[in-house]
This record gives sequence, structure tokens and C-alpha cells, in this order.
Amino acid sequence: MILNSTNIDFRAKLLLESFSSELRLLATDHQIDFSLTTNEALALAIFEAYRGSQRVAPNPCVGCVVLDQHGRFLAKGHHEFYGGPHAEVNALNGLTEEQLKEAHVIVTLEPCAHQGKTPSCAKTLANLPIKKVTYGLKDPNPLVAGAGAEILKTAGKEVHLYNPAGYDLDLTQELEEVAEIFLFNFRFKKTFLSLKWAQSLDGKTALLNGESKWITNPLSREYSHFLRSIHDATMVGANTIVEDNPLLNIRMENVDKKSKIVIFDPYGKVLVKEKEFQFTEVHQSENIYYLIDELESKRINPTKQFESILESKVSNIIFLDKTKGFYDPLKINDKLFDKGLKSVLIEGGAKTIQFFLKNCEWQRIYTFIAPIILGQGQSYSEAIVNHSMENKIRLNYSKSFSFGADLLLSGISGNYN
Ligand SMILES: NC(=O)c1ccc[n+]([C@@H]2O[C@H](COP(=O)([O-])OP(=O)(O)OC[C@H]3O[C@@H](n4cnc5c(N)ncnc54)[C@H](OP(=O)(O)O)[C@@H]3O)[C@@H](O)[C@H]2O)c1
Repeated sequence: MILNSTNIDFRAKLLLESFSSELRLLATDHQIDFSLTTNEALALAIFEAYRGSQRVAPNPCVGCVVLDQHGRFLAKGHHEFYGGPHAEVNALNGLTEEQLKEAHVIVTLEPCAHQGKTPSCAKTLANLPIKKVTYGLKDPNPLVAGAGAEILKTAGKEVHLYNPAGYDLDLTQELEEVAEIFLFNFRFKKTFLSLKWAQSLDGKTALLNGESKWITNPLSREYSHFLRSIHDATMVGANTIVEDNPLLNIRMENVDKKSKIVIFDPYGKVLVKEKEFQFTEVHQSENIYYLIDELESKRINPTKQFESILESKVSNIIFLDKTKGFYDPLKINDKLFDKGLKSVLIEGGAKTIQFFLKNCEWQRIYTFIAPIILGQGQSYSEAIVNHSMENKIRLNYSKSFSFGADLLLSGISGNYN
């Protein structure tokens, strides 16, 4: 696979840019004779892990690198798809017992202790003549955390949890980020919500008349399809459906994933005339979810026809709960999680973005900033009132990446890990 800026996570691309020329060759599948430090091997394993990001959910992205007894690169692998072999198995595939004698296995997440869809990786490694295993993060499940390491120790292997001390580059945050959706789901039993929008230099997401095509360039828009492909579902607000009539599917070569969609449609204005919109031509009805205010939508559409639409779609309708008169974002998250949606990319428009932003119900922001000025227009932040700089909403661990002249800025809310 040729890796370009729009078919792999931008964080993997940034990592690649930070690599030495030798490490870059190894990352791009060239086999060269090269010795790596544990930190270099782990960075390479993180890069490798990102390769699975479109197909492993609800499993984590995991990467693995094997070094021989002298620290020379032998092999690498990643978890490619849900239900498929784990990263360790893919990395070890084809290596002989002779090559593995006293070898060092470096993996981004603790080798699994249990037999699931595939055998226990810790047990597989325990039966090989390797000398040591270094893993980046503990299994987030407190009931099994450390169990994989224990199996390896019992088999007489040296086992190390990654320790950045002594290295120039601390990879802890990179390890968290490559598995962020899985870690968040496990730690909080909640859906990982990513906010994504395109804005002009003056922070506008559309003109006053609703026109927004196009703020960003084709490369940025192509990357948006990649972002859809690494989430379980894409959410937009009802006005976006009415204004733009989007397809909301994933249009990428060699990706046949069917994303689900969620429409923030409190008043049922899309639901009532769904068939008029083209998203219904590309998504099966069981993959389309609506967020509906039951009382308001019935008040605005007081017809038997609307009642029967609500009844016929009941399993795909998430009714909005109100707390003190306002929609409760925490309950939306709980209900998305109950529907099995582990991650949702919220693409706008401004009101939808603002709702989640204002209520601090988001984990990551992806914003594309285009070098244009729109003047008066729609804004994703005008209803957010701060009386003190203390209360500003900050993106933590923010990173940026260029798509032509557009800039992608991304960071996390910082209050979840
Ligand atoms: N630049 C970008 O990245 C981007 C992305 C997507 C869309 N857009 C543009 O954004 C425009 C639409 O955005 P929009 O802000 O008008 O609407 P929107 O976010 O697409 O839709 C929000 C919907 O939820 C309703 N709503 C009711 N209560 C709400 C609440 N408390 N919080 C949030 N929504 C609530 C809104 O109703 P009411 O409006 O009836 O009150 C509306 O139907 C379009 O012109 C589209 O082209 C830009």
C-alpha cells in the first residue's frame, strides 16, 4: 500500500517525518540491516499500529517490532482487522526459531492474556525462544491488566513496561493516541466523540445564507473521508442535511466500510421527509440514527404519519433527554454507546458543533483552517460566553499538519485520560 497524506492518520505521517532515514525505510516496508534502540523500535511499532485504524474497531490499533539478539531489525506487524491475527502474530509470522533466539519483542500494548477470537499472544510469546518483551501500555481492563506480563514472567522472559526515562523522546502520549478510542471506551464506558469542522481564517463555518462549499481544498476534503473511516459513525445536524444534502458515506479507494450516520434532528425536520435527501440512497435504514426531541417534534409535526414514522424507526431513534430545560449531552453519549457506536465523528454544522463544545462533551477536535476570510457568517463558538480567560476551551497535545495551503489542527479535551 502506498501511504499518502490522505490514507493514513496525520499523526503517523508526523511520526514518519521525525524518523531517521533508516527508520523511515523500515517504516515504508524496506528490509534493511539496521540496529534500533527500544525507543526507535517502539516509535516504529506505533507507526505500524496506525495502519490498522480503519478496520480494527472495536479492538485497538496495535503494532509490534521484533529485534534480534543484537538489536537488529527482524520484522514488524500490526493488527490489521477485527477478528484477525494480533500484531505480535503478524510480526512473528515467517521468523525461524533460530532468528528468534534471545530476540526482543516490542509491542505498543500489553500482549493479551486471554483467548478471544485469536489465541493468547502472551502464551504464544512465552513458548518462543525470545529473551524479552517491552510493551507500551498496560491493558486498560483492570481485571486483566498485568496478566499478559505475568504469563511471560512465569515463562522466564524479561518483561518491561515502557519507560521513557533515558530517551530524548517520550512516546507515552503517542502510545495513548494510537489506541485512544479503545482506551477511552474501556476506561469510561462512553463513546469517543470527535468534533470536525472546516473554518475560514476568521472562524466561520458558512456564509450567513448557509453556503459553505467549499471552505477547504480537495486534499483536506479527501482526508475527511479518512476521518469518517476511523470512526463508527458520522453525525451532522439537520440544517446541514437540508442545506447541503450530503451523502455522508466514505468515498476512498479500497475502503468498503459502511459507516453509520447520526442526524441531530430535534424537531424531526429531516426525518419527516427523509426520502427527499440523497443520504438515504447510500445508507441502509438500519445504519441511520436520529436524535429526536419527542415532545417538540410531535408538536411541530402533529400528524398520524409522523407518529407512524417514529414507531417504525423506534430502534434507530435516540430520544433527547432534557436536564433543566436543556438537552443533556451526557445522556446522548450513554445512548450512542448503548447502540454500540464506540466512536462518532461530529461534522457540524455550527449549532451541532457548538452544542457539544459548549457542554464539554467531546474528546478530540479536528479543525481544518483555510487561508480565506468569509466575513459575516456562521460561527461554531458565538454562543460560548467566557467571562474569564481561565475558562477558555483548550486543545491539549495539539498537533498540526498541512494539506496544501490548509492547516489541520487537532488536539484532545485533556480531561479524559
Ligand atoms: N464548515 C463546516 O465544516 C460545515 C460542516 C457542516 C455544515 N456546514 C454548514 O452549516 C450550516 C448548517 O449549520 P447549522 O448550525 O445551521 O445547523 P446544524 O448544526 O447543521 O443543525 C442543527 C440542528 O439541530 C437543531 N437544534 C435545536 N436545538 C439545538 C441545540 N440545542 N443545539 C444544537 N442544535 C439544535 C437546529 O435547529 P434550528 O436551526 O432549527 O434551531 C438544527 O436543526 C449549513 O449551511 C452547512 O453548509 C458547515
